[in-house]
Amino acid sequence: MAKKKIIVNNELFESYIDEKKIQARIRQLGKKISKDFEGKTPIFIGILNGAYIFFADLIRRITIECEVDFMKLSSYGDSKITSGNVHLLKDLNSQVKNRHIIVVEDIVDTGLSIDFIKRILNAHQPASVSVVSLLVKPKSLKIPTEVDYIGFNIPSEFVLGYGLDYAQKGRNIPSIYKIAKQ
Ligand code: IMP
Repeated sequence: MAKKKIIVNNELFESYIDEKKIQARIRQLGKKISKDFEGKTPIFIGILNGAYIFFADLIRRITIECEVDFMKLSSYGDSKITSGNVHLLKDLNSQVKNRHIIVVEDIVDTGLSIDFIKRILNAHQPASVSVVSLLVKPKSLKIPTEVDYIGFNIPSEFVLGYGLDYAQKGRNIPSIYKIAKQ
């Protein structure tokens, strides 16, 4: 049984989305994406670091032929507030021209990272670019952002666990916690 409350970097977090609920939603997403991309051999692009656990679980629920690759961005630094300053730390190894791309994100907050990634990918003339994100904070979006497959829409509160960090801590926690109200 997961703890109800935990402390990470001196801040209190409370249990929010448990492992069972996460895995059940990932099974549904895997089924839907597999159906939508049947016969298209998509390339799944995981966005490091945050998406690595979600990516590993989602890809094992994909039942069609596919390829995988990763990009690494840096934006948050060690803070809980997005800096809006996105840098590319690792580019793709794959050729994406005329290929169907599915970007795999942990969380969409302001939407600036996804916008940045889409612009880079579109410059390579892919056949299509879709986005799957485990979490979306709809009220935090700063620019119009289309997320094709959403695990959970959540309020604009800071979350961690299941790959998501707070100043690099908490990525190893198996379920999702949110910052506790004081
Ligand atoms: P965006 O560019 O503001 O949409 O932010 C996207 C990135 O910020 C995500 O891929 C995460 O790495 C990070 N992020 C946004 N919200 C949170 C959060 O609540 N907890 C941990 N990381 C977050």
